[in-house]
Parts: sequence; structure tokens; C-alpha cells
Amino acid sequence: MDAPAPDAGSRASSAATYRRLLGYAAAHWPLASLALCGMMIEAAAAGAFTALMNPLIDQTFVEKNPAAAAWLPFAIVGLFLARGIATFITDYGMARIGRGVVQTLRQEVLAKYLRMPARWFDARPSAVLVARLTYNTEQVAQASSDAVKVAITDLLTLCALLTVMLMQSVRVTITMLVMGPLIAGIIAVVGRRYRRINTRIQASVGELAHIAEEAVGAQHVVKVYGGQAREEARFAAVAERNRRLQVKVETTKATSSALVQLLAAIALAVIVYVAGREAMAGRLTPGAFVSLMTAMMAMLPSLKRITNVQGMIQKGVAAAGGLFEVLDAEPEADRGTRAITRATGHLEFRDVVVRYADDKPPALDGIGFVAEPGSVTAIVGRSGSGKSTLTRLLPRLYEADAGTVLLDGVSLADYRLVDLRRQIALVSQDVLLFDDTVAANIAYGLPGEVPREQLAEAARAANALDFIERLPQGFDTRIGEGGALLSGGQRQRLAIARALLKDAPILILDEATSSLDTESERLIQEALERIMRGRTTLVIAHRLSTVEHADQILVLDHGRIVERGRHAELLARGGPYARLAGFELQGA
Ligand SMILES: Nc1ncnc2c1ncn2[C@@H]1O[C@H](COP(=O)(O)OP(=O)(O)OP(=O)(O)O)[C@@H](O)[C@H]1O
Ligand SMILES: [Mg+2]
Repeated sequence: MDAPAPDAGSRASSAATYRRLLGYAAAHWPLASLALCGMMIEAAAAGAFTALMNPLIDQTFVEKNPAAAAWLPFAIVGLFLARGIATFITDYGMARIGRGVVQTLRQEVLAKYLRMPARWFDARPSAVLVARLTYNTEQVAQASSDAVKVAITDLLTLCALLTVMLMQSVRVTITMLVMGPLIAGIIAVVGRRYRRINTRIQASVGELAHIAEEAVGAQHVVKVYGGQAREEARFAAVAERNRRLQVKVETTKATSSALVQLLAAIALAVIVYVAGREAMAGRLTPGAFVSLMTAMMAMLPSLKRITNVQGMIQKGVAAAGGLFEVLDAEPEADRGTRAITRATGHLEFRDVVVRYADDKPPALDGIGFVAEPGSVTAIVGRSGSGKSTLTRLLPRLYEADAGTVLLDGVSLADYRLVDLRRQIALVSQDVLLFDDTVAANIAYGLPGEVPREQLAEAARAANALDFIERLPQGFDTRIGEGGALLSGGQRQRLAIARALLKDAPILILDEATSSLDTESERLIQEALERIMRGRTTLVIAHRLSTVEHADQILVLDHGRIVERGRHAELLARGGPYARLAGFELQGA
């Protein structure tokens, strides 16, 4: 066992993390220098005040000097005025820096999330990712601004106070310096423990949110299947772990504060003893003694805060570690260089294999087919046969593990990702709408303001115009989270309008399995026929009407194409397709 090595390593890495974090604050260097001036004035004022105790006692009370009695009160007010202004400048400057760092980090992390490959998200609960963006960044703000503020101000204050003390009596001050390392040792030990617990707390908060979100989101299922007890137990276990860790952190914090204060008190006792001897020997006036005492006492809160700084920094470093891990993660591969404005839409799959996990059978296994420009390819197959996986390859949400997908004879990987994705419109199984207006949802992703007539035209072609015009504010109606204020059929027609407006040469359609009433069904069917016209369409088909008109049908099973052809010939063959179609007809 080689214990010190990993610990030294983690300390070095957390120092690197903190340096990187401070780099974000350093971008605000003009404000930082201003704040630093404020901190120096604050510290100097603290020192000056304790130094003032010497003339206050000796001149006013011992010597009874009237001049000193007149200027001293003014000096005290002036000192606190300067200090007040300095504190304001420091607090304001550091707050702006801290909030600036949070904002930058949040934006960078979100931008990074949007560029991570789909596979990366599969392995991470979204609640944890969101917690990083909200919770971690807050802690980072503390470490990058509050902690720096406290550390610098208090260190400078300690220096100023120490100078004042040395001016009063070197011997007494040296006695105190001997006590210093003791306190420093404790601070180091406590900090290490703190950091360890904090990493675990963050994980458990994310887990809490994840479980709660899942339970609340799936409340229907929980109720119907009587899963309350299971969810409660799952949550209780994590909540218990979280509570224990939180208490541990608080205990560590409390113990460390108490210990440091006790040590300081012992130091004080020793100093009082030495000071007494110095006074007896006539080397210490009452004023100098009061000045020393005041400086000593003024040091205690600074020392106490500095022990907390360690905790703050450790918390921030743990949180920043999570953020930097995201920022340093490998984004979606985009090594293609080929630009394309509008593809003709010739698609070819060559021996494509996709594997989600090494220990599972491939989701797609040796897929090969050609889709001519403007043709409709229907993909059918049982649930889990790989239909969605196949369509996800086109916009390169997932990459093929073997084989190639070609668009207009060129491998998808050779295109620039933005260009490739511009060629594709998508209407997914579960329609994804944003909590925004109807207009914004239809025009989603298009640059600039889209004229109303164009929106209306797309909506009309999607059979959505009628219901949109009946909404309270028409195109400006907000549709709620996920389009909650619309019916299922209306949501689908909005998604079709969005795809129509994008006017891409390739269309991916994942037909909804949920059946609608015949009227909505007819409206959607009509809209779909309109949008498929002139585009290479890959449609995951559940409706008989779609497959009947398809130019080719691919029947998938366990990731392989087991049959291909047109509706009539496949039916006549009496193979897997005929059996699937039989089910369909029975169900309808
Ligand atoms: N993100 C993922 N991570 C791991 N495995 C996945 C993922 N998505 C799909 N799979 C697995 O890959 C296989 C094919 O899934 P896919 O979603 O392509 O099926 P599908 O034919 O679209 O099914 P459905 O008709 O139910 O939508 C399934 O066994 C599924 O469990
Ligand atoms: Mg699917």
C-alpha cells in the first residue's frame, strides 16, 4: 500500500483545478485589481485602528494630553469611513467577478452539453447534468470570489495586525509566532477530510433529484403498479446517505472552528504571561499592551474565517472538477470537411453495424440498402428490432461501429456536421416541442425572423392552420412545457409544419404508435403525404396506408433486414412481413 502517493497526486490535481478556476476570475482583472486595493485598505484600516489604541490609552488616560483627546475621535471616524468605502468596493468587485464566472461556466457547460454525442447522455441521468449546471456552478462562484476575498483580506489583515504588534513588542509577538504552525497543521488536516465528503455529497444530491424526478414523472405508473413503497424506499436510502454526509460536513466544520479557537486562546494565554513580565520590566506601556491585546483579539475572527476558506475552496474545487470533466469531454466527432448546400438525397447503407454495448448483441447487424432520391422507404419490424437506431445514424446522432452510410455517394463522416444535419428534417415518435410560441416552435432552428405568410403556408400544408387560428393568440400562443396545451394530434401536426418549413431533401419520420381518432388520423396522413413528396423519406411505419404506398419496405428483425420489397409482393410471399401486416390488420 502506497498511501501518500495518490493523495499527493490528488492534491496536485486539485491545485491545478483551482488554478484553472482562478483563470476564469482572472479574465475580470481590472475589477480584481480594484477589489485588491479595497482589500489592502481594509487590512490597513484594521491595523491602524489597533495601533491607535496605543496613543488613545497613553496620551488620553495616562498623560492626559488635550491635543490627543481632540484629534483621536476624528481619527477613529475617518478610519472607519475609509474602511467602509473599501469594504464596499471589495464586496461589489468580488460579487461581480463571482457572478461573471458562474455565468461564463454555465454558458460553456450548456454549450458543451449540446455538442456531446448521444451515447454520452445514455450513460448519465439528466438530473445529474442539470445539477452540475445549477448547483456546481454556485459552489464554484464561492470558491472563485468569496474565498479569494476572505483569504486575501484576512491574510493582509493578519499581516497588518502583526506589524502593529511587532511595533509594540517584539518579544510578545515572537511568542505568538511560535503558536502559528500548530493552527496551520490543523487547518490542513481538516481541509482534506472536507473535500472527500463534499464530492460524495454532490453525487448524492444529483441522485436524490434523479430518483424524485423519476418518481414524480412516472406517478401514473407508480400508482397503477403500486410502486409507492419501492420508490419511497429507494428515495429514503439516498436521503439517509445525504443526511449523514451533510451532518459529517457540519461536524467537521464545527470541530475545526472550535479547535482553532482553543489553540488561539492558548496562544493568547502564553502572550499575556510574557506581556506581564515585560510590563514589570518597564518595557511595555499600558497603551502598547492594549494595542497588542486588541490586535490579538482582532486576529481571531480572521483566523476563523481562514479555516472556513479552506472548506469553501475544497467545495469549489470538487464542484469545478465536475464541470471541467464536462468541458474536457470529447464532443461529437466533426472531422468532415465536405460542404454541401442541398443534397439530391441518394442514400446508401453498406454493411452497417451498430452496437450500444459490447456485451449485448448489435442493434443493427449488416444493414445494406439503397434509397433513391425522392423515394419512400418504409421500415417495419417488432419493437426493439433496430428501426429507431437505423434512422439515428443519418443525422449522426450515433455513429456506425462498422460499415458506412453514404449520402450522394459520400460517406456521412466526410460532411461537415452542420451541413449534413441541414439536409435532414425529422418528425419523431414522441414529438418534441419547446415551451414557447407556436410560431417559434414551427420556425425552430431557422436563422432570423421567418415571415408570417411562410409560417402560415407550412402550417396549412401540415393541416395545422385551422387549429392554430382558433388558439387565443394564434401563432403567438404559448404552448406550455412540451406542448402540454395541445392535443397529441395537434402536436404532431406542429412537428410536421416544422419539418415542412425546414424543406430538407431527406425526411425521417417515426410514426406515432398511439392511435388518434379517425379525423386527426386523416389530417395527419394527408399532411404526411404532402411532406414526403419530392424527398427521400425513411419512415418507421405503423400505418398500413404508409407501407402500401412505399417504394420499398425493409423488414427488420434483431437488427437484420429479413425481408425487402413492396407491399403486395411481400404479402403474397407470406413471410415475416405478411405476419406483421396480419397483426396490424387484426389490431386495426
Ligand atoms: N440509447 C441506447 N442505449 C443502449 N441500447 C439501446 C439504445 N437505444 C436502443 N437500444 C437497444 O437497441 C435495440 C434497438 O432499439 P431501437 O430503439 O432501434 O428499436 P425500435 O425498432 O426503434 O423499437 P420501437 O419500435 O419500440 O421504437 C433494442 O434492443 C434497444 O434495447
Ligand atoms: Mg423506435
